[in-house]
Amino acid sequence: MEKTRPDGIDLTEWDFWARPLDERHAAFRTLRGLPRPAFFREPELSFVPAGPGYYALVTHADVVEASRRPADFCSGQGAININDMPADLGEYFGSMINMDDPRHAKIRRIVSRAFSPRMIQRFEDQVQAVAEQVVEEVLVKGGGDFVTDVAARLPLKIICDLMGIDEAHYKTVFDNSNIILAGADTEFVSEEADQVALQLLEAGQTLKDLVEELGRRRREEPTGDLTSALVNANIDGESLTDQELGSFFILLVVAGNETTRNAIAHGLHLLTRYPEQRELLASDFERYIPGAVEEIVRYASPVIWMRRTATRDTELNGREFKAGDKLLLYYWSANRDETVFTDPDVFDITRDPNPHVGFGGPGPHFCLGAHLARREITVMFRELFRRAPGIRATGEPDRLLSNFINGIKHLPYTV
Ligand code: HEM
Repeated sequence: MEKTRPDGIDLTEWDFWARPLDERHAAFRTLRGLPRPAFFREPELSFVPAGPGYYALVTHADVVEASRRPADFCSGQGAININDMPADLGEYFGSMINMDDPRHAKIRRIVSRAFSPRMIQRFEDQVQAVAEQVVEEVLVKGGGDFVTDVAARLPLKIICDLMGIDEAHYKTVFDNSNIILAGADTEFVSEEADQVALQLLEAGQTLKDLVEELGRRRREEPTGDLTSALVNANIDGESLTDQELGSFFILLVVAGNETTRNAIAHGLHLLTRYPEQRELLASDFERYIPGAVEEIVRYASPVIWMRRTATRDTELNGREFKAGDKLLLYYWSANRDETVFTDPDVFDITRDPNPHVGFGGPGPHFCLGAHLARREITVMFRELFRRAPGIRATGEPDRLLSNFINGIKHLPYTV
């Protein structure tokens, strides 16, 4: 397929991701209007050579279709990075999200059995207890940074409790997951590209050490936590190796923690910015919250894209791709596709249907934690609306400089 790129839009430039949100959404609107997916060069990184470039899939139909065909558009050559990563980074960041069947299916089978109804029930009780505690403290404090006081705390505690990580290690988990998803944001990583690679490796190693040590203990003395379920063989005799446990934990911390944190922070920002939507939600919380959660995830799209690689010469919605072509599935653009969503830039908690792809498109990699994330967002806002009904953002979000995560670093609030 012809490799074209419209003037004035370069998704690879960090400057693009520093532009105001409206401008970025307008650029994606332009991309959606093109006759074929635009093609971009890969970022210049000091620790890996830039590859041939990538196509940006920006329509809902393209993102859904590519997700649905893992045999043609695979994840195993890298789903969370544009440049192909060196093997040493793969050791840390090579879990199931970057795998294809049969390895992917094996890990997902082991892991999803551990997300059994009994486990989920345990999360539900814990989610409730943590949300109550967080809101209690918010009421005492009266205001501050919503991200650190509220949004970050629930997902962090849930992931750590789930795995059996002690409270003493929460800060280590928090700091290192911030580094891993820092993008180019110098609040968390160095300005020097060489340093960033080292920081990523160190963050990966720290998290891996933490969970491997726990895994060893749980092999000897299992408890009811997820780590015990993962390292001890299930009824089919399957369990995770040390290496698989380490990279799965890193994936869980990154996929389950930061995404949900950002969804909650975007939620408060959006409900402050659109007071009529907030009033509607407050008027009958239980009726409107399911739709509100889906709309927050659609509107914010906490994960901006995932990558796929064509495994053979093939076509997608009438366009031809060659074996080895890289495709970025832009969920945040698909979620604003005007051919699927009426008034896509309007935040509407009653939107129905809302076939957003914020948790990924239909396919084997669809978000494993979607149910848990929905519960966390619901319970957090239920507690906030019940006990701190006046809570609102008092300023604009301080946004993460990233092309991958639509992150909010800080958000001032008052109760
Ligand atoms: C609002 C919050 C969340 C969002 C927006 C989100 C989004 C996503 C997306 C876009 C994918 C990739 C889908 C694909 O490649 O096709 C994914 C995969 C995944 N998510 Fe989530 N996620 C969230 C919360 C969570 C939570 C709470 C957990 C864990 C407890 C979690 C665990 C995972 C895992 C393990 C995968 C990889 C699944 C696989 O490769 O089979 N996520 N998520």
